[in-house]
Amino acid sequence: MKISPSILSADFSRLGEELRALEEAGADYVHVDVMDGRFVSNITIGPFIVEAAKRATALPLDVHLMIEEPERYISEFASAGASIITVHAEATRHLHGVLQDIKKAGVRAGVSINPATPVSAIIDILGDVDLVLVMSVNPGFSGQSFIPSSLAKLRQVRAALDACSSNAELEVDGGIKTANIKEAADAGADVFVSGSGIFSSGDYKKTITEMRARVGELAI
Ligand code: DX5
Ligand code: ZN
Repeated sequence: MKISPSILSADFSRLGEELRALEEAGADYVHVDVMDGRFVSNITIGPFIVEAAKRATALPLDVHLMIEEPERYISEFASAGASIITVHAEATRHLHGVLQDIKKAGVRAGVSINPATPVSAIIDILGDVDLVLVMSVNPGFSGQSFIPSSLAKLRQVRAALDACSSNAELEVDGGIKTANIKEAADAGADVFVSGSGIFSSGDYKKTITEMRARVGELAI
C-alpha cells in the first residue's frame, strides 16, 4: 500500500518544511491537486509550484489534474517534475491520446473518474494506464465526507484490472481517514490519498503509521 498525502491541506507559506515533514512521516508519494476554476470551481496551483515542490522533496509527485483539456498542459507538468500525471476521463475528448502523451513524456499515466462516472467510461483504456484514481468525493475541495458508494466502484475497478491482468495501481481520493482506510483497502485500493486526514492530525508520522496499521501492514 502507498500513502499519498494531498498538499492541498498543507500550509503553503511553509511548503518546503511541510514536504520534509511528509518524508520524515513515511509518505510514499506527494499528491498535488491542480484545479483550473473550470473543471472544478476551485483554482489551486500550476506547474510553477510543482517545479518548486520537486526541488524540495525526493518523493514522487503524484499530480492530479482537475482541469479541462488536460492535453494542453502535459508537457509543462512533465517538465516540472511530475512522476505520475492523472487526468479525468470527463475532462478530455481524447482520453486515449492524452494518456499516450503522458507516457511519451516519460511520466506514469493515470486516469480518474468522478463519483457519477461509471467504470465503463474507462474500460477500453485500462490497459493503457499505470494508475486508476477513483474519486470518493466530488473534486474541488479537501475536507469533504467519503461517499460510501465509492467502495462498490473500487471493487468494480479492481475486478476490471484483474480481468485484463493489469498491475496498475488503484488510488482512492477524498475523505480518507484512519477510520475508513481499511474499508477502502478491502475494496481493492492500494494507494490512499489523504489531505485533511493527515494535515489536520498534527502528528503526520503517527497518522500515516496508524493508516498502515489499520490496513494491516504494521502492528502498532
Ligand atoms: C479533491 C482532491 C483531493 C482532496 C483530498 O478535489 O482531489 O485530493 O484534497 O482531501 P481530503 O482527504 O481532505 O478529502
Ligand atoms: Zn486529488
